[in-house]
Amino acid sequence: MRAPVTIAVTGGAGQIGYQLLFRIAAGDMLGPGQPVRLRILEVEQAMPALEGVVMELHDAAFPLLASVDTTADASVAFEGADHALLVGARPRGPGMERGDLLAANGAIFAAQGRAIQERASDRIRITVTGNPANTNALIAAAAAPDIPRERFSALTRLDHNRAIAQLSAKTGVAVADIRRMIVWGNHSATQVPDVTHAVVAGRPAVELVERSWVREAFVPTVANRGAAIIEARGASSAASAASATIDHVRSWALGTPEGDWTSMSVLSSGEYGVPEGLVSSFPVTCADGEWSLVEGLELDPDVRAQLDRSIAELADEGEQVRALGLLD
Ligand code: NAI
Repeated sequence: MRAPVTIAVTGGAGQIGYQLLFRIAAGDMLGPGQPVRLRILEVEQAMPALEGVVMELHDAAFPLLASVDTTADASVAFEGADHALLVGARPRGPGMERGDLLAANGAIFAAQGRAIQERASDRIRITVTGNPANTNALIAAAAAPDIPRERFSALTRLDHNRAIAQLSAKTGVAVADIRRMIVWGNHSATQVPDVTHAVVAGRPAVELVERSWVREAFVPTVANRGAAIIEARGASSAASAASATIDHVRSWALGTPEGDWTSMSVLSSGEYGVPEGLVSSFPVTCADGEWSLVEGLELDPDVRAQLDRSIAELADEGEQVRALGLLD
């Protein structure tokens, strides 16, 4: 048996946490031969509920679950962590402006970034799921300047998976036969799901679907899927968000398949016209625990225009948190 890997998860008493923790403990994230230690960070008020989740984790008797610890102290949660899954975030409350939300989350992610820098293992990899995910990742990275920039990421895998599901439904081809999907930009309604490089059962997707379908059905359905789920379920997507978080970390740690890539939000070095230092979604391949951006793709004019709008939104969020003093 290998030595356990330490995984810190924030927001463990929340909706996503309730799905995510069990998938990690079952070995879905790092593979069936890899034991895990779970460190769960929650706010004090949520500790009683979190204790119930921990009871259930024990009751599941997962062979790979080496230990479970809970804490309300970030410096304890991230001690020796190899992966930090930052899921817990402040939801938008009644009467709260977007700026208030950025400020409340900014404070959380800056504090967690500092604690990760001080405490985590030198193998640490950070995945931000809590919204606004891209900007929260930017804030955490700014608070942890000694950690290499490429260790910070935000989740756009749910959008990527949603895009594959829509293309599968449209073409009648199984999701397993769809490759090279891309989601660019921000994890928000401005995101850019892009089929122009996708391959469906060996054929270019653009030969199988009309441009009008992409514009009028595919892009808006994927970009607004979160709202549609809230409308239907009366609660935001949780199981699919947890599943996408698992997929994101698994791809990063264990690699992407030959001939395929995935979408991950990472700190830009200026590729595809995304200003350096913004956290944007890009196509990436992963191997040996590292991601590499897929460079040199030609952008369709519709995709370029949509990506420019999403970049403008990311830049605006960046300006707002800079004005709050969170990026210095
Ligand atoms: P939830 O409200 O059910 O759970 C959030 C949990 O985080 C709560 O238990 C809360 O006590 C905890 N929390 C709040 N502040 C914390 C802190 N400072 N430290 C530790 N824990 C803290 O929310 P849910 O549904 O689990 O979603 C979590 C986040 O994920 C939300 O921000 C949501 O918008 C986001 N999300 C992101 C998606 C993506 O694709 N990137 C998809 C779906 C949700």
